[in-house]
Amino acid sequence: MIDSIKDKITNLQILLRHYQYQYHMLDQPEVSDSEYDLLINELRVLEKEYPKFLMTDSPTQCIGSSPMSRNTLKKVYHEVPMLSLDNVIDKNSYLAFHKRIEDELYDSDQIRFCCELKFDGLAVSLLYEDRRLVRASTRGDGNNGENITNNIRMIKSIPSYLNGHNIPKHLEVRGEAFMFLSHFKKINYEALSSGHKVFSNPRNAAAGSLRQIDPCITLKRQLSFICYGLGLVEGGTMPTSHIKCLKKFRDWGLPVSEHTRLCYTRDEVLEFYDQMKINRPFLDYDIDGVVIKVDDLLLQKKLGCITHAPRWAVAFKFPAQEKITTVRDIDFQVGRTGVLTPVAKLEPVSISGVIVSSATLYNTSSISRLGIRIGDRVTIRRAGDVIPQIVSIIGSNAQRYEVIIPIFCPACGSVLKREKGETGVRCTNGLTCSAQLKGALKHFVSRRALNIHGIGEKIITQLVEKKYVKNLADLFNLTITQLSEMEHMGPKAAQYLVDQLEKAKKTTFSRFLYALGISNIGQTTAVNLAAHFKTLDALMNANIDDLILVNGIGRVVAGRIRHFLDEENNRQVIRILIKDIGITWMPMVGLY
Ligand code: IVH
Repeated sequence: MIDSIKDKITNLQILLRHYQYQYHMLDQPEVSDSEYDLLINELRVLEKEYPKFLMTDSPTQCIGSSPMSRNTLKKVYHEVPMLSLDNVIDKNSYLAFHKRIEDELYDSDQIRFCCELKFDGLAVSLLYEDRRLVRASTRGDGNNGENITNNIRMIKSIPSYLNGHNIPKHLEVRGEAFMFLSHFKKINYEALSSGHKVFSNPRNAAAGSLRQIDPCITLKRQLSFICYGLGLVEGGTMPTSHIKCLKKFRDWGLPVSEHTRLCYTRDEVLEFYDQMKINRPFLDYDIDGVVIKVDDLLLQKKLGCITHAPRWAVAFKFPAQEKITTVRDIDFQVGRTGVLTPVAKLEPVSISGVIVSSATLYNTSSISRLGIRIGDRVTIRRAGDVIPQIVSIIGSNAQRYEVIIPIFCPACGSVLKREKGETGVRCTNGLTCSAQLKGALKHFVSRRALNIHGIGEKIITQLVEKKYVKNLADLFNLTITQLSEMEHMGPKAAQYLVDQLEKAKKTTFSRFLYALGISNIGQTTAVNLAAHFKTLDALMNANIDDLILVNGIGRVVAGRIRHFLDEENNRQVIRILIKDIGITWMPMVGLY
């Protein structure tokens, strides 16, 4: 009886964790809110009756379900110390490493080198006992780290159980947790539009997310993990080749990088390094070099370690993605939501082969936070394809000029306002402001909104400047003749766009809501709103008290939605889109 209750609780926890993942991470809820609530209540009742089966990582312990206990992170002692790596930064220093290995192992057969990516994230140790993930910890000082088990369980690519044969009873797997660049950009964009603090780079974002007391925050921040090594092994054996260990990890369900190569000669290693340097800008995660490891674990043992690093491995770093340059000027741009964004115009510099001449400053408060002035010498950083950022000010030229924050919108000339609780200033002229209109149109046609192909930023800019499009609805009335006047648009492309616009008229309620670009309404909130109100009329008539009943909507966001829906211009555009243009969607039934 007890066993079957335990199984039931475990199964419910697994199922609900899966639903949470689908909902928070993929924005693709698999069940309706009411079905989810029924299951979570069932689990809550069972856990209350059988408290010994209540796990701290249970979905019932997440915010939004019931309060989490506010412990600080506990310390974990690493029985096998978590070492760091020595670095080399150029070909000659690498060749010196390679030669030292060959010299020291002169009596060995041909030495194999396992070449891997050097992920720029956070080192994590995972401890599996009897196949089950029982503990995860950070590296800390190498001897003592912090227990982050509950947060690590929120990383979808890390299995809770290992599958397969000959898995040691105690197996410690080590690897790197990191944040995808696309997700990093998304959360910083969201933080920016809601006036929150932005992360300076994906590594800080990953580290910050993992050290959260509330694992549900980790769940919302899309992290991933890659295994690159072994720690403690007891009650079983592992192969004596590093790459074979990685293959075993993969067979057991652990994530292993596909960019791993076994090299026999120094030229092969150098070729791997060059190849990965070329691949780097195309990856959706940051790497800062490659790691070269002697593959044979017995030879690794023979070579040994110095205090902080093994003598059998080295990090061959890529050239720094940071450069020093001068701020020539500060421009101000207005985004979709009207927020004024300062952009630093820089003395052009090349960072890893890309010429950088501007960097974002996020919002007007960043200017005072950094204390930046025109003429300052600054360090700038480029991480993957993330917009370059100013990291710090390192000095100034004799002539520095104070940055004057505009009081009028640079696009439409209306007075800018600082709203309560916001870090920057914004133009409140709505779609009458050409900059906001361009931003709104870009959002309206984007993949997660109405997904209209054949129209990009350049066409939108021309359409707005020629005044062919003054609001979202005008897009659907464009003629082939008007479109053919646009630069880079022939009659064929114009016809294609008209067809795509026609196709986009059939959509879903949540996409339509998301496409309207209401401030703070991301895809998930749009799905929740659609599922809750079911019809546009019901939403249009909802008051603040009705709106806060929707999952994820508090009073501030409810106020913003109401404000948007009360604005006469917005009401009119929505009316035209539905009545005149004929945008339709399937009625909401059950699942959505
Ligand atoms: S091996 C004993 N392999 O780099 C060897 N480390 O700068 C220990 N890192 O703390 C590490 N990618 O967090 C190894 N493929 C890789 C790696 C990697 C990233 C990190 C790791 C380590 C740091 C040292």
